[in-house]
Amino acid sequence: MALTAAAVVLSAAGCAREGGGSTPDAEDGGVVHVVCGATEEWCAATTAQFSKTTGVKADFVRLSSGEALARIKAGRGNAEFDVWYGGPADGFAAGGAENLLTAYVSPNAGAIPARYKDPTGIWTGVYVGALGFCSNPKLLAEAGVAVPDSWADLLDPKLAKDIGIAHPSTSGTSYTALWTQVVLAGGNEDKALEYMRKLHPNVLQYTKSGAAPAQMTARGEVAVGIIFSHDCVAAKEAGFPDLTVTFPAEGTGYETGGVALVSGAKNPVSAKKFVDWALTVEAQEVGPTVKSYQFPTHPDAKVSDKVVDLSTITMVEYDAVEAGEAKTALNRRFDGEVAQAPKS
Ligand code: F6P
Repeated sequence: MALTAAAVVLSAAGCAREGGGSTPDAEDGGVVHVVCGATEEWCAATTAQFSKTTGVKADFVRLSSGEALARIKAGRGNAEFDVWYGGPADGFAAGGAENLLTAYVSPNAGAIPARYKDPTGIWTGVYVGALGFCSNPKLLAEAGVAVPDSWADLLDPKLAKDIGIAHPSTSGTSYTALWTQVVLAGGNEDKALEYMRKLHPNVLQYTKSGAAPAQMTARGEVAVGIIFSHDCVAAKEAGFPDLTVTFPAEGTGYETGGVALVSGAKNPVSAKKFVDWALTVEAQEVGPTVKSYQFPTHPDAKVSDKVVDLSTITMVEYDAVEAGEAKTALNRRFDGEVAQAPKS
């Protein structure tokens, strides 16, 4: 029986959603299994649209960056996924360094500017997002603190246990924040960890997923969330219009959301079709339909007016390949010297 594009939910987290009808290719099963790091809604809309356009079935599991990497690694030799889509490119670079991903230069990659793709073809960028602060003005007023616009502002003792951020071992968002500190400290990891240790008393909780602090801020559990700014914009749209987005004056980090082939993919033909399609204008215009306001990497894709104008904020020189190479060891240090990763 043909599966419809409507997603069949197998379970909340950890199990795949499936959609699309297809004729299997000779070399694979005519399906692509995607480990997806964008929002659940974007993953669903993207896989459904891919199936509609190409006729290839697609399912996905939404996982945060560190979890996706761990799961791809666990599947080495018997790959569970064919494609990794979404999530900061440093995670992809880390995966490439361990041969968990296979280089593929899509014929459509030519349209994507060089700064948004890996020179060796391990990953290609599909969106860009800037890290920012998501504030609850009411809580800040109660704490007697102005809306923060610098990393230093977050160290104010008046914000004790009033900040939400994910853990960098699980979350690409949080690793972006950590690597941003490394860049701001001129490459000095000790200094970056020192900043995170100073921030620690103000952190209520290290969440697993990067966007979770947006909800915590919206619900009034914390005054400030350190998240990708588009996740704060999405929370504003979802019924919390008072949330305020600001950016640190010292400079902020940004992600290039990637797409890549998983090594040993069981459906390599469909996987390549997915990568090819992910680089099209059609694919890159899906995000805003589900309140995802990252900047598209395809120059011809429409840019929603809800997307932050990247030229108006100070961004650090964020080298995803360098950040990826440092990721495992730096996260281990964060675990030991700042805080352990959340258990559940
Ligand atoms: O919510 C979407 C998003 O912010 C993406 O832009 C980003 O790539 C991803 O989440 C990071 O998720 P996590 O921090 O959970 O790894």
